[in-house]
Amino acid sequence: MVTKELPGARWHEMLAAVGCRVEVCADTVVLSVAEIRAAMGTRCDGAIGQLTEPWGEELFSALRAAGGRAYSNYAVGFDNIDLKAAARHGIPVGNTPGVLTDTAAEMAVALTFAAARRTGESERFLRAGRFEGWLPTLFLGELLRQQTVGVIGAGRIGDAYARIMVEGHKMNLIYYDLYRNEALEHYVAAYSAFLQTHGQPPVTCRRAERVEDLLREADVVSLHTVLDDSTRHLINAERLALMKDNALVVNTSRGPVIDEAALVAHCRTHPNFRAGLDVFEKEPELAPGLADLENVVIVPHIASASKWTREGMATLAACNVAGTLLKQPAWNRPDVMPFLGSNPPQASPSILNATELGIPLYKDIQKE
Ligand code: DGY
Repeated sequence: MVTKELPGARWHEMLAAVGCRVEVCADTVVLSVAEIRAAMGTRCDGAIGQLTEPWGEELFSALRAAGGRAYSNYAVGFDNIDLKAAARHGIPVGNTPGVLTDTAAEMAVALTFAAARRTGESERFLRAGRFEGWLPTLFLGELLRQQTVGVIGAGRIGDAYARIMVEGHKMNLIYYDLYRNEALEHYVAAYSAFLQTHGQPPVTCRRAERVEDLLREADVVSLHTVLDDSTRHLINAERLALMKDNALVVNTSRGPVIDEAALVAHCRTHPNFRAGLDVFEKEPELAPGLADLENVVIVPHIASASKWTREGMATLAACNVAGTLLKQPAWNRPDVMPFLGSNPPQASPSILNATELGIPLYKDIQKE
């Protein structure tokens, strides 16, 4: 049972190849828990669900009662899943990492420049027939080249975004993450050396000890954290107040990482501050006043929406369910590309609770 139509055909073929009859809910609105339960019915071996659905005790017990043994989120993020509830019912939970990285990073870049160069408000101005000719003062924005970019959460997507901004726009990087990203630091150091051998100014990379240090220093702050109790409202009124008056904040992670009401208030009182948002605190609703702000660029949670990525996510989700039903080991490695090729590994690409449920890893099976 799949709670939404997914793009491409391969995911469907992969499930059919392991003997699954696939039922897809055609509705485009977010399904309620009761509707998902009804869709699973009394016989359902596995489910693919969405980040908009609360997969917790009620849904996992219903899936189990229907004979279910496999679940995959159609997302890399899994803040909508109660992993403990899944484990209680013995249900492995998959997600779809690796295929979103570049697509999501590109959207963060797009929002960065849309906000910095005021493309939303200037487009509205033009479409409204208000353009009366070129003016030296029309829609002045910010030049980002050689400014400082701050990345909060330097995992896969944050890392990819940072590299684009450093390499493409010669920005200095400051990042905040619980873990040091040595590969990123080495990359920036090597790129800086390369620039200098070509007579260009160096670029720098520094890991901030405190998020506040990053906020004070950065001209652009891009959020790439997971959503959990430690990151909910990470960007609040106090922290916004630390940022430069003409800084910009970009969010392609999860809406609740920003206190949206505080952001609205800050953008109202700081007209040169800008925000680029793909995600919202109470999706699909927007905080009152957000949509009226000219200094905010908003798109409807589409950071991963390239055809390649969304089809890849569907393939990974299907492989998670098929692999689990076939009792295959978990791949759980950063490189998931083999699953997109013609000869996918005999494994589930990414099972979040593999260790907890005693599911062996593919690499360990290979060694035996
Ligand atoms: C994810 O996979 O978590 C993304 O938010 C989907 O765009």
